[in-house]
Amino acid sequence: MQFDIIHIDETDSTNRWLKSEGRNKEGELVVVADFQTAGRGQGSNSWESERGQNLTFSIGFTPERIKADQQFVLSMAISVALTKTLSALPHPVSIKWPNDIYVGDRKICGILIENVLNGNSIRHCIIGIGLNVNQRLFTSDAPNPTSMALEGGHDFNRDEVLHTLLEHFSRLLTNWDEEAVRTAYRQQLYRREGMFPYQDKDGDFMASLVNVEDDGHLVLQDTEGRRRRYAFKEVSFRI
Ligand code: BTN
Repeated sequence: MQFDIIHIDETDSTNRWLKSEGRNKEGELVVVADFQTAGRGQGSNSWESERGQNLTFSIGFTPERIKADQQFVLSMAISVALTKTLSALPHPVSIKWPNDIYVGDRKICGILIENVLNGNSIRHCIIGIGLNVNQRLFTSDAPNPTSMALEGGHDFNRDEVLHTLLEHFSRLLTNWDEEAVRTAYRQQLYRREGMFPYQDKDGDFMASLVNVEDDGHLVLQDTEGRRRRYAFKEVSFRI
């Protein structure tokens, strides 16, 4: 799979840009912005990124072989491609359910996927990625940010990082093996082993991670042995 790459200085949000300006472009397209004036995070969050320091970009493509009811596997695939890209960092990289990329207990990358569905087909998938590359100081209230430079102790070339990621992702899509993607995702989950604190609508509890199901639900097991199953936003990790 070959991605055309468009670089722009500034836009409100690369996801928004791809949805409107990019919609008439054929095939696979990546739009990279040096700065976003209204970068969007999950839910109602915004995404902080210092001008020219990081990677803020969106990948647009049509995943022919993936049905809408299997769309979580796309989250898994891009998360796995990101962990491969960051594997040279000196500290362990993991995937915090559903698709944050962590180094130790710190977030290095956020992902915002927006799919346009047509029945059970995915007509267009937009994967927005905010990867902290060379930023060293974070001023927003994001609780635990880090960057490649902070973790690696030196600056990184943003174009090289982008190309490495696109290569990993495109390889996964071309040699598509859904089960292998799911296995790789599960093997790299943050807090895969051990009891940790979580919080849901009923309060705080300790639990171990049992599984992330194919459709993206998180299954935890609490100290009484009770299984608890959550959709995105129904539970938070206490870090
Ligand atoms: C998160 O909250 O963790 C998701 C953050 C996603 C940020 C990226 S930056 C590029 C793309 N454009 C946006 O407006 N958001 C995503």
